[in-house]
Amino acid sequence: MDTQILPVDGRSLELSKKIICEGGAVAFPTETVYGLGANALDTAAVENIFKIKGRPSDNPLIVHVHSGFDISALVDYVPDYAKRLAEKFLPGPLTMVYKSKGKVSAAVSCGLETLAVRVPSHDSAQKFLKYVGLPIAAPSANISKHVSPVTAEHVFADLNGRISVILDGGKCSGGIESTVLDCTGDIPVVLRSGLITRRMIAETVGDCGEYVMKEGEKARSPGMKYKHYSPDCDTLLFSFEEREEAVAKYRALNGQGNNAYILCDDETFRLIGVEKVLNLGESAEEIASNLYLKLREGEKIAQTIIAIAPREQSGIMAGVMNRLAKACKGQ
Ligand code: TXA
Ligand code: MG
Repeated sequence: MDTQILPVDGRSLELSKKIICEGGAVAFPTETVYGLGANALDTAAVENIFKIKGRPSDNPLIVHVHSGFDISALVDYVPDYAKRLAEKFLPGPLTMVYKSKGKVSAAVSCGLETLAVRVPSHDSAQKFLKYVGLPIAAPSANISKHVSPVTAEHVFADLNGRISVILDGGKCSGGIESTVLDCTGDIPVVLRSGLITRRMIAETVGDCGEYVMKEGEKARSPGMKYKHYSPDCDTLLFSFEEREEAVAKYRALNGQGNNAYILCDDETFRLIGVEKVLNLGESAEEIASNLYLKLREGEKIAQTIIAIAPREQSGIMAGVMNRLAKACKGQ
């Protein structure tokens, strides 16, 4: 199968609609990362998404809809706080988990009674979703466990030959996946941190929990138990306080002929001043936006990426840290 990267216009939207309606998959940009979309009402199309990505069959997908879509057609209970959050943050990088009405294929939620719904704000995502007019099940458009894609070229690198169309919306501005929020209980609970922070949610509705998986417990958001976001090279992770150790490791590895790069934010870079650096930038938004870009850049040029965590660990950085820790896990 030939894979084309196409600008978002009348022709590519028409082609995308045809592919989706025939049970195929199309990659499209969102404000967080690129998604790999298929018709959420079509079980074979949804199962195909799992096959294309090599995704574990118990990790459910998010359904994406345009801003005019009536989500009460898909989910049956919208608590009052969820309405307020939707008014404030949607369209945007907040995925809300509700009780499902069972209208979409059971394959989307892997048999769970809940459904994760997202209304992306990216202009091209909105155009695609409106044009197709169907609820679209879409995970990130990468091979499972690899770094999520934030450009059309990243999608191509992973899925060339496996899908026919990648809609090109440029680089995703957000850079890390949406916040996943459980809206089935008395208060909202963050299942996956992202650009809409727990604090922003609590400030809007008074309270917000955060789910931390305990040893031996069945994951409430099944994606949490998997290794994720890993670049195709060796990785090491040091804390901000351990930065001198990280530099010593960098020097030792390069001295042994191992091509090691340091991945860090601008503050750390100014403190350590090494030559081979993948600089994530300064503000939390900038760091989030550059994280996957730099991990993907790093895996091409480095044998080892030595990541140094930023000093700040809360707010948006909680989401960045979660991805960075998973990217560097188990190697
Ligand atoms: O920003 C995003 O959310 C991107 C773009 C493409 O929209 N999508 C994305 O999808 O990150 P994916 O499949 O890579 O991650 C979906 C996450 C997983 O952690 C999954 O376990 C969780 O959402 N999830 C999906 N349905 C769920 C449900 N019913 N209950 C709890 N967690 C759910
Ligand atoms: Mg993903």
